[in-house]
Amino acid sequence: MHKMIRTESASETVISILKAIEEMNHLKDVDTILDKILLEARQLSNADAGSIFLLENEGLKFSFVHNDTLFQENESNAALYVNYSVPVNHDSIVGHAAITGKTLAIDNVYAINEDQPYSFNPSFDRKSGYETISMLTIPLKSFQDRLVGVMQLINARNENNISVPFSEKSRIFVPLFAHNASVAIERGVMNRELILRMMKMAELRDPTETGPHVQRVGSYAAEIYYRWALRHKISKDDIKYNRDLIRLAAMLHDIGKVGISDTILKKPAKLTRQEYETMKWHTIYGARLLVNKTSDMDRMSADIALHHHEKWDGPGYPGKIDVETATAVTGQPINGKNIPLSARITALADVFDALTSRRAYKEPWSDDKTLKLIEENAGKQFDPELVEIFFEIFDVIKAIRAKFQE
Ligand code: C2E
Ligand code: SIN
Ligand code: SIN
Ligand code: FE
Ligand code: FE
Repeated sequence: MHKMIRTESASETVISILKAIEEMNHLKDVDTILDKILLEARQLSNADAGSIFLLENEGLKFSFVHNDTLFQENESNAALYVNYSVPVNHDSIVGHAAITGKTLAIDNVYAINEDQPYSFNPSFDRKSGYETISMLTIPLKSFQDRLVGVMQLINARNENNISVPFSEKSRIFVPLFAHNASVAIERGVMNRELILRMMKMAELRDPTETGPHVQRVGSYAAEIYYRWALRHKISKDDIKYNRDLIRLAAMLHDIGKVGISDTILKKPAKLTRQEYETMKWHTIYGARLLVNKTSDMDRMSADIALHHHEKWDGPGYPGKIDVETATAVTGQPINGKNIPLSARITALADVFDALTSRRAYKEPWSDDKTLKLIEENAGKQFDPELVEIFFEIFDVIKAIRAKFQE
């Protein structure tokens, strides 16, 4: 039984594109937007694989990949976190498409005409054992022809799952979709930069809260959530939506440190008891900054800022505190599943990153020592199921750490 390809009429195709654009516009984080764009473009063209390169520092940075043959669903996402960049010149296929601004269809990358300036780089095929044949390369342009990046679709398949050249229909419809995709990507990049700029302000106050630190914590949290959600049979749409939210919201976990004085924040030694009590207020300051809970993003960011130092077996901090009045209210401190899932996840991601990083008051810990502490604290400081997941995806965690270095 071979895979059926639904043959759609042109108007059905246009309707499905419009629907994808509508969904794309609800997403905020660039990674989730890229995932959605590739999914839609691959469905339109029945491509087996694809990747997106984004324009960054004068180069085209490899930013997202799908490959149904090499990476089965539910498998490790480590491939997403590869660092690799192509210069914008005519030597490569993506570079050529970026400069000319034209969609480029190649029926067989191993038989490119000698008179073309570009050539196919076979190193990925050699390393992975994958066989690239047909390729559709689409420049991604936003308003005023601004180049955002390049999308590359690989190996269109026929109804017998055999690689064939990209159809006329794909060559028309995918580029049609590309402009809207580019606008969404540009917006996603701006969102992330806005958060990084906010964090930059916090970093001026606290040198440990660096860009790479917040990006690592955000990505660790997104990947832990992803694995948790697969286990709990959360619907695909909900997974995408929440993973998008948690990546950004977790980046803001320590935003409340802007309210802590320099003498405490930058102290190159152990905090006194009193200083540590003051430091604990960063959770409440953070939640108050995010108190206008008008969107899911605000709500999750506030949950994380407030509760990322709670402990599974209680009592972490701030415990039972009223954020509006910032007064302690008596009652049971929270623990276990009363702590929002997003905050339980961020707690684990944050401690792993804090321990394995250098701080003014400590050297980085080795992975062995760090993993031992995490394991010992399963069911104590941390949700034991999340610790289990963390160990399962440790290859992805390491790939993220390698990508976002200081
Ligand atoms: P942070 O540096 O981002 O650390 C986040 C959390 O990672 C800490 O929350 C703690 O749970 C864990 N962690 C970090 N370093 C160590 C360590 O050496 N051993 C262990 N067992 N866990 C560690 P915590 O303790 O609530 O601290 C919150 C924030 O307070 C820290 O954020 C840091 O900014 C500050 N802080 C904590 N202790 C000290 C200290 O001794 N000196 C200074 N200067 N700052 C400290
Ligand atoms: C609150 O959000 O006002 C209380 C937070 C808590 O239960 O710790
Ligand atoms: C949730 O799905 O957000 C709650 C489940 C949990 O806290 O474990
Ligand atoms: Fe914190
Ligand atoms: Fe932190």
